[in-house]
Amino acid sequence: MFFENVYIHIPFCSRKCDYCSFFSVPNPGKSLIDAYLNRLEEDLADANLSIPVKTIYIGGGTPSLLSCAQLERFYAMVRKYVPLLPSAEISMECNPETLSPEKGELILNFVNRLSIGVQSFNHKLRAKLGRQSKDSEIEAALSSLRSRRIKDFNIDLIYGIPGQSLKEWEHDLETAAAHDISHISCYCLTIEEGTALATAFEGENLIDDEIAAEMWSMTGAFLESRKIRRYEISNYAKPGAECAHNINVWYGQPYLGLGPASTSFDGKDRWTQPSSLEKWLDGQAPEMDIIDLEYRMAEIFIIGLRTVEGWNSNRWKEVFLQKTMYVDWSTMLERAFVVKKLHPDLMNVSDDNISLTEKGLLFWNTAAEAWLG
Ligand SMILES: C[S@@+](CC[C@H](N)C(=O)[O-])C[C@H]1O[C@@H](n2cnc3c(N)ncnc32)[C@H](O)[C@@H]1O
Ligand code: SF4
Repeated sequence: MFFENVYIHIPFCSRKCDYCSFFSVPNPGKSLIDAYLNRLEEDLADANLSIPVKTIYIGGGTPSLLSCAQLERFYAMVRKYVPLLPSAEISMECNPETLSPEKGELILNFVNRLSIGVQSFNHKLRAKLGRQSKDSEIEAALSSLRSRRIKDFNIDLIYGIPGQSLKEWEHDLETAAAHDISHISCYCLTIEEGTALATAFEGENLIDDEIAAEMWSMTGAFLESRKIRRYEISNYAKPGAECAHNINVWYGQPYLGLGPASTSFDGKDRWTQPSSLEKWLDGQAPEMDIIDLEYRMAEIFIIGLRTVEGWNSNRWKEVFLQKTMYVDWSTMLERAFVVKKLHPDLMNVSDDNISLTEKGLLFWNTAAEAWLG
């Protein structure tokens, strides 16, 4: 299988944020990170990537927690084993408190898309989330990196934090937009089972769905007024600054995941590496997700409906499974008309487009369930 998109999970953080259930090991020692890099190098070599890759996404965890020497080693091995298109998008997630000027310089020599986890510009709300970064660290990271005029620059924000007002959320958006960034990801806080936040807020009033929906609608309108457009349920960009890696994933293109807890997709089957550093270092087999191909095709289609643009016949033709199963565009249109009849306010259907309305994006789960029948 040829992979043109690669995700690398760097599973380390200085400590766990109170809301996060992504797989990461807090406060790792140098030897653990070195062991991770050794195993990652083996996996990169075994992947035998032979055609130029279009996108690499380095996520975590906190990739920027690695020391300069570790990052240099990491970048050298990616260069060695991953052939890249000259136009390849290389993204990396960074936490502000981990970015010294020297490290920032090193990172910018390798990546061309930065994603900075701010979460909130309001220190009281960050404290509620158990975030570590100080205002001064966020400012320093944004101003020093931004001054380098890197083309694609993202900030991650979270809304729907208990106690957060609409005004406070608007202020966060205003502050983000004022930093002249090209991309903002805005995630509604989910209280994940087993996290410190789930325990802390047990029985307390969380933000209700209606206020969260109001925040989401306001986000779209506010950022639109700054020419930063919603292009997926939680993602906003200036024209041309959309994240190519995520777009390829949402539209069902294959991707190779490397590192513990990473998922891969070959266009047909998915597999996920163990969410345990020990098991992954031991070489335990990934968990396979092999499902009926018709169901997989429907799954690919509904994930693509998370985008504002939705599907057209050309995009659909590019789906690997569609090519092998010969499920043509007219079959998708037939299904779309059935769903539209059930939920006229959730879906737009025309000869060459199937997409969700604004309400449909907000109620994506309902549309997805209806699509699956
Ligand atoms: C897993 S983190 C990795 C990036 C980096 N370590 C950071 O903290 O910014 C990626 C993003 O997922 C989002 N996220 C993680 N857990 C979340 C939750 N429970 N609710 C909403 N967003 C969440 C955060 O916005 C975060 O920036
Ligand atoms: S949100 Fe980021 S820094 Fe916080 S625990 Fe999750 S991966 Fe680590």
